[in-house]
Amino acid sequence: MRNIVILISGSGSNMAAIAQAAQREDWHQKFQARVCAVISSRPDAKGLQMATELGLPTQVVDHRDFADQADPRAAFDHALMQAIDEHQPALVVLAGFMRILTPAFVAHYAGRLINVHPSLLPAFPGLNTHQRAIDAGCRFAGATVHQVTADLDHGPILTQAVVPVLPEDTADSLAARVLTQEHLMYPQAVAEILGSLRKSF
Ligand code: GAR
Repeated sequence: MRNIVILISGSGSNMAAIAQAAQREDWHQKFQARVCAVISSRPDAKGLQMATELGLPTQVVDHRDFADQADPRAAFDHALMQAIDEHQPALVVLAGFMRILTPAFVAHYAGRLINVHPSLLPAFPGLNTHQRAIDAGCRFAGATVHQVTADLDHGPILTQAVVPVLPEDTADSLAARVLTQEHLMYPQAVAEILGSLRKSF
């Protein structure tokens, strides 16, 4: 069985889209794969309840618990790695996971760590992508699924979805339009990876 671990920090709608696609498309039968755990960096992430409703085991590794460590970021990543590795995942999926990961973490999951970012990378890495796209006068915006490398929001691009930016758009209205596309694109990207893993065995 190929285990998929999904990491979240917030509402978890991409996580839910992937979990629902896994059920709907029977990834168990098709790819011998399953979403085996949802791990949140925040105890109050709305996505935790959604994961429970979808029948998925959840866990919290709260980044604030490591604030008094000599190197809080490294200590958090170490604890997160331990939680993830219990599942021996074939794929680790970042879905609205709002933490910058250490190079050691990224190296540990090299080739099996993917992310969705709400811009057409390499444009607008980082935060506030939708407002920045509007401010720049972009006519199109979108989202990118990419492999994660140590360079923030710069890994090899796996797929992208494009939406128009409308004259009346606010950051919120544009974010909602982009998110709808993320929900279609991200599960499909995960399925393609699982399909390619299957062929290589
Ligand atoms: C999504 O739009 C995702 O692309 C973005 O956060 C949102 C999470 O929504 N991710 C990032 O900004 C990562 N840098 P969700 O929690 O409902 O899936």
